[in-house]
Amino acid sequence: MLTNYKYLTIDNVLEKVELNGWVSRVRNLGGLVFIDLRNRCGITQIVVRPDNKYYDLANSLKSEYVINVKGVVVERESKNKNIKSGDIEIDLEELVLINKSKDVPFQITDDTNALEDTRLKYRYLDIRRESIRNKLIVRNNITFSARKFLNSLDFIEVETPTLCKSTPEGARDYLVPSRVSKGEFYALPQSPQIYKQLLMVGGIERYFQIARCYRDEDLRADRQPEFSQIDVEMSFVDENDVMTLGEELVSKIFKDVNNIDIKLPLMRMKYDDAIRDYGSDKPDLRFDMKINDISDCFENTEFQVFKNVLENGGVINSIVAKQASTKYSRKDIDKLTDFVKKYNAKGLAYLKFDDEITGSISKVVSDEEIKLIKKKLNIEMNDLVFIISGEYNVVKTSLGALRILLGKELDLIDKDDYKLLWVTDFPLFEWSAEENRFLACHHPFTMPKDEDVDKLLNDKAHCYSKAYDIVINGYEAGGGSIRIHDEKVQETMFEALELSKEDIENKFGFFVEALKYGCPPHGGFALGLDRLTMILSNTDNIRDVIAFPKTASASDLMADCPSKVDTKQLNELGICVSKSE
Ligand code: AMO
Repeated sequence: MLTNYKYLTIDNVLEKVELNGWVSRVRNLGGLVFIDLRNRCGITQIVVRPDNKYYDLANSLKSEYVINVKGVVVERESKNKNIKSGDIEIDLEELVLINKSKDVPFQITDDTNALEDTRLKYRYLDIRRESIRNKLIVRNNITFSARKFLNSLDFIEVETPTLCKSTPEGARDYLVPSRVSKGEFYALPQSPQIYKQLLMVGGIERYFQIARCYRDEDLRADRQPEFSQIDVEMSFVDENDVMTLGEELVSKIFKDVNNIDIKLPLMRMKYDDAIRDYGSDKPDLRFDMKINDISDCFENTEFQVFKNVLENGGVINSIVAKQASTKYSRKDIDKLTDFVKKYNAKGLAYLKFDDEITGSISKVVSDEEIKLIKKKLNIEMNDLVFIISGEYNVVKTSLGALRILLGKELDLIDKDDYKLLWVTDFPLFEWSAEENRFLACHHPFTMPKDEDVDKLLNDKAHCYSKAYDIVINGYEAGGGSIRIHDEKVQETMFEALELSKEDIENKFGFFVEALKYGCPPHGGFALGLDRLTMILSNTDNIRDVIAFPKTASASDLMADCPSKVDTKQLNELGICVSKSE
């Protein structure tokens, strides 16, 4: 029996087995040789006695040699609770050395302290570690579960092109030069958005795809330049239909992959409320600590900073760190102040409610104001209140970020907890100071709320959309919307985005044309497969869940890519690289 994919237990005692794998380590203890053989199901101990004819070969084995063993499963005298097959060992009968290995650049163990760059350079060795392999298995289990579920509901998987037309909205495109049409380029898809909508025009009605997406944007711990989506689109649906399907899919995945029960329907929170209460459109609800508006406590304040803020239409907001007054020294709070300044806050005021009230503004606020704050925030002994004043969005964003930091530092987050919700009613547009114009908050095909269609050209700041994001433990795990299916509304939307007629024609002409041929009402969403895998395998590093990921500077350390190419190749493409690059 070949047992590579199933670990052996006490139930297998006396069975004859054959295993292939890698030598994790070899020990010679009092004449007995112990080989830890590693394969996909973990470590299995092989024992070789001095009278065994393979004894010398066993003794000569080194780490990462590839071997084949045959033997009998026996119960161990001293059991090892740290490994799954720790109750048994294999009494060796035959041993074959299949291949040797160079000395490896780092120890292949789960508690390795090798630098991530070294692990990425030798990723194929890194993948031998159980912790990486298990995450790839979780990833496989997620896509398998999604495919099963969606197929059972008559969704069909359709592949869409990866050589596409470059579109001006969204992140920067990765471009691919055309050899045949010199000077012209394809773009790699940022998502299959346009194609899945065209599939709805094509009458597919229920589509899905495990789709590869490419975005040339600044990378973060939860962003990669190439990533995958579980991408879904449906015809003849409204927001409710799509969100219901989306949450059923997610709950099925949680159940299938980690046996976690998610209570449906999920909570829904409007975008404006999420910003007001949590300072984020992806609130982590695993802990409380809401943001409070305490502007009204300072209506008659003499404290010049707050007075100015209120006179200029700003707000004064706070968060309460319960029972934390002794946990933060002045020096610690200086660090928090530097932290919120990254979010453009001008400063961070605080009050500690101990026997005495102390803190940066304790001397400048009145007794009456302290009384009002205490009442409004239900302050108890030893509470610590952080206050930021200023422009609404800056105050919310900086306190939102501080909330997350405090949640981690004060250990308020239960790692085994899962809090899922839909954030709905996003603004349709967002102001870009850089471009000095409104951009689409999601993408330009997002349907405005019915009551906002007439405001598209003259009141963009107050237009909302039929868009929704699914948020899990503070991650944007997916998002989608109902799409515009009306040609006139789509044209108005492009106009609102200040795209020139020429641009619209050049970039989206084929799409606008398609809307003229009986486009059904439709909508959908895409789940970030990498982020779902992060959540279900408990890591906050996206590189852990991708077999061959890129670094923060978008390079592949193993293949040393991106890399220069031959002049011949460039000439064929009609490309000349400028010297300064
Ligand atoms: P969106 O841009 O919100 O929507 O992407 C959907 C989900 O994909 C994941 N995601 C990423 N994951 C890793 N690295 C990245 N760089 C990255 N960017 C996005 C997130 C996100 O929620 N076409 C629309 C979906 C739709 O409207 O149907 C879209 O792509 O988890």
